[in-house]
Amino acid sequence: MKPKNKIFSGKTLAILTGGGDTPALNSSIESVRNRASMLGFKVYGIRKGWKGLLGEGDVIDLTNHPYDGWYGGTALLSSRTNPFPTKKNPENRVPQILNNLKRYHIDVLVSIGGDDTNGAAKRLYETEGIPVIGFPKTIDNDLRTHTMHSYNGKEVEAVLCPGFPSAVQGIVDFSNRMRTTCESHQRICVLEVMGRDAGWLTGGAYYGGAEISLIPEIEITKERKEVFFEKVKEAYLNSPKKAIVVAVSEGVRWYDEAKGKVDVVYASSETDEYGHPRFGGISGVIASEITKKLGIEARAQITGYYPRSGQCQEYDRKLTVTLADKVADLLLREEYGQMPVITKIVKQIELEEYNTSSIDMGSIGNRPLQDIYYNLDQYNFTPAYDDFLSHIIDKPEINEFKYDFPIVLPK
Ligand code: F6P
Repeated sequence: MKPKNKIFSGKTLAILTGGGDTPALNSSIESVRNRASMLGFKVYGIRKGWKGLLGEGDVIDLTNHPYDGWYGGTALLSSRTNPFPTKKNPENRVPQILNNLKRYHIDVLVSIGGDDTNGAAKRLYETEGIPVIGFPKTIDNDLRTHTMHSYNGKEVEAVLCPGFPSAVQGIVDFSNRMRTTCESHQRICVLEVMGRDAGWLTGGAYYGGAEISLIPEIEITKERKEVFFEKVKEAYLNSPKKAIVVAVSEGVRWYDEAKGKVDVVYASSETDEYGHPRFGGISGVIASEITKKLGIEARAQITGYYPRSGQCQEYDRKLTVTLADKVADLLLREEYGQMPVITKIVKQIELEEYNTSSIDMGSIGNRPLQDIYYNLDQYNFTPAYDDFLSHIIDKPEINEFKYDFPIVLPK
């Protein structure tokens, strides 16, 4: 039998990015483009996620053009368009997608995204037989990548998604820097960090020195709220300069006295095409309740897009290149409906294809933090989380200026 020709000359692979951007998206695009080109594919970019396959289509050629993978965000642009009928948009736009895949002669699709984008791609594979490969991305780091973390002789199921390493570095720095301004004003700074359903990114603030952290996984009930205030007071009074940082995930479920129930704080009641509302503002609520309850000045700071913006960091660069190697392997094996993942939490130097595997790309969100990473009584992360993050980024140097000048009394 004639061996199958695995140089895909004449074939076209198209890449799209969907959902919130990350600093590692261009790096993912460049890495997949490079691997696919080496296999002989012509490589297209579909602009604005699934939107770029609607109507007339919005497609660009990436094959032989220089690409800057260090530059954050996505040159392909992104959207939260869902091709399948939804409550918000009941029209079935799948026929438009199929039509454009045919018109542009696209043979294989690589969807770079989270659960929503990759979920839609998986449905296209299952219902229409479109060859798709998923590629993970999220700064929230909450996809089920089944990446194992060896800690103290235990194997803990962790997560490692491109975008998180760069974003968490931003949060570590932000939280570390906050300290000086908090100290100058002897305030409590309440730092709000993205993370709708999981606290992985908020853990960066702890790594940067936050004394207390609240995460979406643990509801702040009426009872826990009382204990939280006590913890804040204790931490503040014990702090040498009367200044602390309290980190809170945007998706924290907080007891609302007026409503008489636990709820998230919404930035807007509008939902996207996947049915997600926008969160935001919990830090303001918590800061004002701290001031009211404890009489200590507290200020809210929303880190917002800060971790999502800027350069791709080195760990992410290597991570995306490694996962793209696995994409090449999936292409050669013609294994579609799969997504490459890293099998274990390792230092940058060990990010190599032999530490990758692939998983089914459907229903991959949401992986909450494992209990081992968060101490319910301490209201903060644990040394296990420190260990997890220490593989990905260096612990920041906390340069403390310890001052205790003698007080001068009037003569
Ligand atoms: O991509 C996930 C995320 O970073 C969430 O943490 C956040 O809720 C959401 O994006 C907000 O994105 P946007 O402002 O782009 O809608």
